[in-house]
Amino acid sequence: MSMFSRFAMVMFLVVAATAATNDFEVVEHLNKLNKPSMKSIKSPDGDIIDCVHISNQAAFDHPSLKNHKIQMRPNYHPEGMNFDNMKVSSETQETINQLWHLNGKCAKGTIPVRRTKKEDVLRASSIKKYGKKKSVSSVAQPTSVDLDLINQSGHQHAIAYVEGEFYGAKATMNVWDPQIQQSNEFSLSQIWLLGGSFSEDLNSIEAGWQVSPDLYGDNNTRFFTYWTSDAYQATGCYNLLCSGFIQINNEIALGASISPISKYHGSQYDISILIWKDPEQGNWWMQFGKGNVLGYWPASLFSYLTESASMIQWGGEVVNSASDGQHTTTQMGSGHFPEEGFGKSSYFRNVQIVDGSNSLRAPKDIDTFTEQPNCYDVQTGKNDGWGSYIYYGGPGRNPNCP
Ligand SMILES: *[C@@H]1O[C@H](CO)[C@@H](O)[C@H](O)[C@H]1NC(C)=O
Ligand SMILES: *[C@@H]1O[C@H](CO)[C@@H](O)[C@H](O)[C@H]1NC(C)=O
Repeated sequence: MSMFSRFAMVMFLVVAATAATNDFEVVEHLNKLNKPSMKSIKSPDGDIIDCVHISNQAAFDHPSLKNHKIQMRPNYHPEGMNFDNMKVSSETQETINQLWHLNGKCAKGTIPVRRTKKEDVLRASSIKKYGKKKSVSSVAQPTSVDLDLINQSGHQHAIAYVEGEFYGAKATMNVWDPQIQQSNEFSLSQIWLLGGSFSEDLNSIEAGWQVSPDLYGDNNTRFFTYWTSDAYQATGCYNLLCSGFIQINNEIALGASISPISKYHGSQYDISILIWKDPEQGNWWMQFGKGNVLGYWPASLFSYLTESASMIQWGGEVVNSASDGQHTTTQMGSGHFPEEGFGKSSYFRNVQIVDGSNSLRAPKDIDTFTEQPNCYDVQTGKNDGWGSYIYYGGPGRNPNCP
């Protein structure tokens, strides 16, 4: 064998070995995420929804949740303890539309889990990063001292926020399908409940809708959650892509596509999200729509949020990769500015917080923040029908945002 072919042979073996390890690691990761299911449902959008026994869910892989006793209902609800209106199973009709509902249901005692496919993991830059936000710039930092640095991160926000001591938050937001310029960007609209400072130890609980081609492999609008207890570093993830969130509901799949979507100058469709802290156990519960209690983030996942949230934010976030030296054309919300108002701009209405006496009420002293108002902007208002409301969003690149 010549020197060259010997070298080529060695290189070939090295490459083959690396590929095999990666492949093994990917399969191992998939086995960890995709628990054995009682039934699988094929959604029209290509997703597979696995009905996983509730006690088999990934949450219980978390070291601090090994002996966790699952809580099947909250001890407290800020809208009143009328459990007849609250459901964790599919005994009554509800009009929340997740595409996979067209093809089946998950039985009581199971939870619907969006199956992670091999290609989902392979789209991530590494197995470790799959299902995770990239950095602390994933949250708007209106009170940070170093605005310039944050501004350069590429993450752009248009949010309304309040500071204080909070035990929950609620809002109804309309749902859109913003255009994404390139697959490593995303556009999301959500509620953030934050604890701690904007440094290494930031705690965050998040929920809303998003379009993220890298995460899901398509441009569908999907319902999602996120949590972290260390500023998006080692802990936390989207949906059920790591252990943490405990789901009890058999109807709503985290990460599944939602429809219908609002139309510019046409019908508006919105979803309601309520997140609140159970004063007895300290767990953070989430409700989707009218009375669909989804599950909870155990207090033990967090540090600051074991007490209360110190900031609540409502609004949008996009990644501006500025790959061609110009601002991205990725849209936020409807892709239109707040000035356009109802039917055109994206909104959060009936924006509320849960206060120190565990009551829902309109927030006082609501502020706004956006890095570049000519790209994405935000406005707040108040009226009888909508209480406190927010219009937010924008087109990204335009003559005033080059
Ligand atoms: C998402 O939309 C963009 C254009 O907005 C398109 O270029 C891209 O191919 C779409 N991606 C997928 C996975 O459908
Ligand atoms: C962010 O950067 C843009 C463009 O350089 C600038 O116009 C804007 O004022 C900056 N925003 C903040 C909050 O510093």
